[in-house]
Amino acid sequence: MLNFAISVAKDAGRLLRDRVGTRIDIDHKGSINLVTDVDLASEKLIREAISTYYPRHEILAEEGGLSESGSEYRWIVDPLDGTTNYAHGYPIFCVSIALECRGEVVLGVVYDPMRDELFAAERGNGATLNNRSIRVSQTAELMQGLLSTGFPYNIKTSQLTNLDHWSNFAMNAQALRRDGAAALDLCYVASGRFDGFWELNLSAWDTAAGVLIVSEAGGQVSNFRGGPFSNYKPEIVASNGLIHESMLRVLNLK
Ligand code: IPD
Ligand code: CA
Ligand code: CA
Repeated sequence: MLNFAISVAKDAGRLLRDRVGTRIDIDHKGSINLVTDVDLASEKLIREAISTYYPRHEILAEEGGLSESGSEYRWIVDPLDGTTNYAHGYPIFCVSIALECRGEVVLGVVYDPMRDELFAAERGNGATLNNRSIRVSQTAELMQGLLSTGFPYNIKTSQLTNLDHWSNFAMNAQALRRDGAAALDLCYVASGRFDGFWELNLSAWDTAAGVLIVSEAGGQVSNFRGGPFSNYKPEIVASNGLIHESMLRVLNLK
């Protein structure tokens, strides 16, 4: 099933790449939450492939939601993570596909078609980037760390803007980035490019594959209190493990 997921992620990624520079139809799901015809085409390709090869499996995908079947297997799909980037021609976006078995993620793949980078992990078997094993960074001090995050689509109306955490981390880390594709942010933690990542209000399709890839690369993932992370709950902190406690301290500053 890992090879299947890789092949589908690459097919969908090629579709995204081939549409760069062409006319994109953009719709709004909210005032700043976009969906394009390319998100929909990518999801259609992935859903059709899963339904052909694994017709009884459930699919939870961002644009079409959950197709329930009662199967113990559930594919969790973000057909285009980084839609705002994509709509602006900013070349940071990916496809994310994970597979849950009885509620536990057992494999995850994230494909960045612009760099031809395929991140993958299978539970218990480590994580890879283009077939080479990857590990989280060895940065031991938060002040030496490059961190990333994102801001929720309801930032204009919610109390939870993430701006408090952003300014606290700006004062306590080496530097911050906001790249706009959470699944890739997680893979960058897994491969040591980022030392840590936090965000609020993500959905299962943003995190399911990336979290397994971070864990299999030796990283740590939790909620903001250090408790267990869930793909179905709103808080995530992912790090190389060494700076995790320091990140939690910053997230809990009053
Ligand atoms: C978004 C991106 C972004 C994150 C948002 C996500 P989308 O996903 O991952 O980095 O900050 O909260 O919803 O909408 O581009 O698939
Ligand atoms: Ca997403
Ligand atoms: Ca998406």
